[in-house]
Amino acid sequence: MRVRPARGDDAAELGRALKVVVEEDWLALEPPMTAAELAAGLRTRLDEGQKLLALEDDDGASAGEGPLVGLINLRPTRIDGVWSIGLWILPGHRGKGAGRLLVDAAIEARPPGVHKIELEVWPENEAAIRLYERAGFQREGLRRDHYRRRDGRLRSSVIMARLFPDGTPPPPDK
Ligand SMILES: CC(C)(COP(=O)(O)OP(=O)(O)OC[C@H]1O[C@@H](n2cnc3c(N)ncnc32)[C@H](O)[C@@H]1OP(=O)(O)O)[C@@H](O)C(=O)NCCC(=O)NCCS
Repeated sequence: MRVRPARGDDAAELGRALKVVVEEDWLALEPPMTAAELAAGLRTRLDEGQKLLALEDDDGASAGEGPLVGLINLRPTRIDGVWSIGLWILPGHRGKGAGRLLVDAAIEARPPGVHKIELEVWPENEAAIRLYERAGFQREGLRRDHYRRRDGRLRSSVIMARLFPDGTPPPPDK
């Protein structure tokens, strides 16, 4: 497995893979969504300058030729110095350390001045919560019945974050 920056011409392939994960209902994105809609969303993110890192299954393929089986998105929030992540991996490629590879790559790709990376996860998503805890993220809170889904259900989310002291500028000289 290899992590590389996603490009505009990856969007169609990533959109098809993302559709599979959206249908599992682990993400904020809600089914039904077409692969084309999801690809368009990914292109918009790239155009906005968000960082998208793709997971390539390079088993037996030269670099840049293997299928894309996962993605992590690193983007600024409205709070200065706080960025957020979201990620997914196709079902057949989970449980082999690829999630950790993506999280570590996103941390590495954070711009200077980022003092915190945050995320939200469904409380039932034990695999994801475990991955984030292993990567140094801590629980900051629970949003109770925060998101109304299309079927009318309200879902809670856990807020997790990791601090990066090197992203905190020194205090101004007095
Ligand atoms: C969450 C997800 C990205 C994890 O990726 P992954 O490649 O399976 O994770 P890794 O193999 O790198 O595992 C990282 C840690 O999580 C643990 N983990 C993985 N799957 C697990 C599971 N089903 N239950 C409990 N722990 C699990 C691993 O044991 C590992 O911990 P360890 O270092 O103590 O062994 C993947 O399951 C996924 O894409 N799920 C669907 C989409 C999703 O939930 N995205 C996150 C939304 S917030």
